[in-house]
Amino acid sequence: MKILSIETSCDETGISLLEIKNNTFKILANKLSSQAKIHAPFGGVYPMLAKREHIKNLPILFKKIQKIYKGEFDLIAVTTGPGLEPALWTGIIFAKELAQKYKIPIMPVNHMEGHIFSVFTKNKGKFKIKKPVFPVLSLLISGGHTELVLIKNFGKYKVIGETVDDAVGEAFDKVARMMSLSYPGGPEISKLAEQERSAKNLRTFAQAGEPSKAIFQKKNMRGEQIFSAPLFSLPRPMIYTKDFNFSFSGLKTAVLYLIRDLKKENENILENIEIKKNIALEFENAITETLVHKTKKAIEKYNINTLLVAGGVSANKHLKKELQKMSKEKKVLSLFPEKNLTGDNAMMIAIAGYFKYIQKGKKGVSLSNIKADGNMKL
Ligand code: KG4
Ligand code: ZN
Repeated sequence: MKILSIETSCDETGISLLEIKNNTFKILANKLSSQAKIHAPFGGVYPMLAKREHIKNLPILFKKIQKIYKGEFDLIAVTTGPGLEPALWTGIIFAKELAQKYKIPIMPVNHMEGHIFSVFTKNKGKFKIKKPVFPVLSLLISGGHTELVLIKNFGKYKVIGETVDDAVGEAFDKVARMMSLSYPGGPEISKLAEQERSAKNLRTFAQAGEPSKAIFQKKNMRGEQIFSAPLFSLPRPMIYTKDFNFSFSGLKTAVLYLIRDLKKENENILENIEIKKNIALEFENAITETLVHKTKKAIEKYNINTLLVAGGVSANKHLKKELQKMSKEKKVLSLFPEKNLTGDNAMMIAIAGYFKYIQKGKKGVSLSNIKADGNMKL
């Protein structure tokens, strides 16, 4: 069967067409249009602007899909929440119109369930979904969510921990804004942190007397030798609480106070790239340590066999490396989405929609029961 899927929960308009035959998915067409540049001046996603862009983009993307694949399709999968309701409705209305026109069933999909399935998708060609060894733990980290989800089987989800305030991606975006970095802030912070991390590693090699590596040693802007120890120290919020919840608002405020104090001494301090790099590094380390520690505790408590990490923040290289290291120690298989599929896309919605359709005995949901729910739970 062929599944057309639609994603409009935030600032990406996505439509894809997948075919499933003998347990193998084949990508027939996949289109994505990002609005990140349009929202950048606001430092976050502006819902009414997102709605306007989705309305404009949906027919354009659908036409592109039809140019690639001219045949019919059998099911429409559409994101109905969580997300920005005005944005979600654009996808839902578009999906309902197509369902009526082509007389085919619709399957509403939870965006977070889509992210869970994103670890199985590929960027090109065909792919098979190998059933993971349950119980599975999923760490979902995006601009709107930070959740640890216990999965006993596909479709059986239990949120065992979540953020009590800001989502992790949101914290990245807000801290980036404090440092006048562009939106989305995650990749910007990560880039600076990565530069400082490798510079500090080189300095450590230099101090340990490894000349071959020390050759690349860099000095700071004033030509001074700086040490490899952290320049700043930020809290690791809620790291030792017994539950699996997270909090990132205090960490964000700690960065705000740090910058305020630094500015008291020098108003233009943030023009010094070394300062920005060191804040970024300490912030990324604080986030990583917290996420890795809580995930490890949940793996131990629930005897987890497979860890699925998904959502926009799963693109973070340092976090990925540390989670992979911890999983290896715990003898747990860890799966991450391929590059370009960590963020929002329609392919993950098609796969989640397909599994739901099978679970529901190959029946769609009636059009009148399909509504946007901005706060939809797993
Ligand atoms: O899943 P996603 O594309 O959209 C939502 O559903 O929210 O996630 C977007 C979030 C943004 O907050 C962005 O800053 C963050 O993912 N992000 C990153 C990285 N790449 C994207 N955060 C940290 N490091 C990255 N490399
Ligand atoms: Zn998302």
